[in-house]
Amino acid sequence: MQEQIEKIKKNALEEIEKVQETKTLNEVKVKYLGKKGELTQVLRGMGELSPEERPKVGNSVNKARSEIEKAIEEKEEKFANQELQKKLEKETIDITLPGSKIKRGSKHPVNRVIEEIEDLFVSMGYDVVAGPELETDEFCFERLNLPKGHPARDMQDSFYITNEYLLRTQTSAVQARTMLANTEKTPIRMICAGKTYRREDDATHSHQFGQVEGLVIDKKERNVSLADLKGTLEIFVKKLIGKNCELRFRPSYFPFTEPSYEVDVSCFKCGGKGCSLCKQTGWIEVLGAGIVHPNVLKMNGYDPEKYGGFAFGTGLERLAMFKYEIPDMRYLYANDIRFLSQFDRKDEE
Ligand code: DAH
Repeated sequence: MQEQIEKIKKNALEEIEKVQETKTLNEVKVKYLGKKGELTQVLRGMGELSPEERPKVGNSVNKARSEIEKAIEEKEEKFANQELQKKLEKETIDITLPGSKIKRGSKHPVNRVIEEIEDLFVSMGYDVVAGPELETDEFCFERLNLPKGHPARDMQDSFYITNEYLLRTQTSAVQARTMLANTEKTPIRMICAGKTYRREDDATHSHQFGQVEGLVIDKKERNVSLADLKGTLEIFVKKLIGKNCELRFRPSYFPFTEPSYEVDVSCFKCGGKGCSLCKQTGWIEVLGAGIVHPNVLKMNGYDPEKYGGFAFGTGLERLAMFKYEIPDMRYLYANDIRFLSQFDRKDEE
């Protein structure tokens, strides 16, 4: 019996030694230690032994069993380690590789333009001012020398909420607000960018768009002149769009300025030679501007005998289109990520 146990043990240990994978190890485990395993069979046969022999055989079986178990455990541990090792090797991380890029949102081109304009004018001593989008007829028109029934109102089809309230059609409303709010009647240098609305529904106009307004008022003796206006707009356009831009002032009409001008910029696409964008003229109309009308000064609390200045206004989309060479204004509103993501860090380049 003892010999048989020794033999079983020897065979088991040899087999365990040879095993190469977990699956066969389990089979060996069942073969020797399982319910029908060889060692268990030996225990079953113990009934035939004499009472003196039984404990001895029992002891040997237990010893053999624990030796086999130990060998199996060691092997299992070895396999587990090997498995882990393999996994670790596969998962090696090269910390010198560049990290994966974090996707960041980007500023809308129109907002970029607003920020750039504000920065520029702040650097020239202007205040950044805001006004309401829901405006009164009084501030949007009347205080800008556009009384009820004035024909120039026809140019700005409006969204009236009531007879008195409307969505502002122009940021010029903020001119009147700024002058009136300045009770001390000190000089003004202000810039205001924001949303404006008109009842437009054709292919080249949007019912909502952006404008920026500038206003400078100072004492007469400081002599804020057309030359200052020209110089200011030249700095503005060249800084924003490009050094090589040419400016052209054309006489025009706005009720709140006298004289009034329309300011054209040489076409960014053809450089002034003439193309489809500038309708073969070489110029694109960009700004409205002029010397503040005495009526506007008077209506908003500034004595036109003592004060004078200039004002200008322009559309933000147009500036963004020039600056970034965007061929179609609708791209600005389409919210297409393929378009918008092109403006990532464009200003920093
Ligand atoms: N508010 C005018 C418009 O929407 C633009 C404009 C023209 C603004 C002349 C001005 C200005 O301040 O002086 O068409």
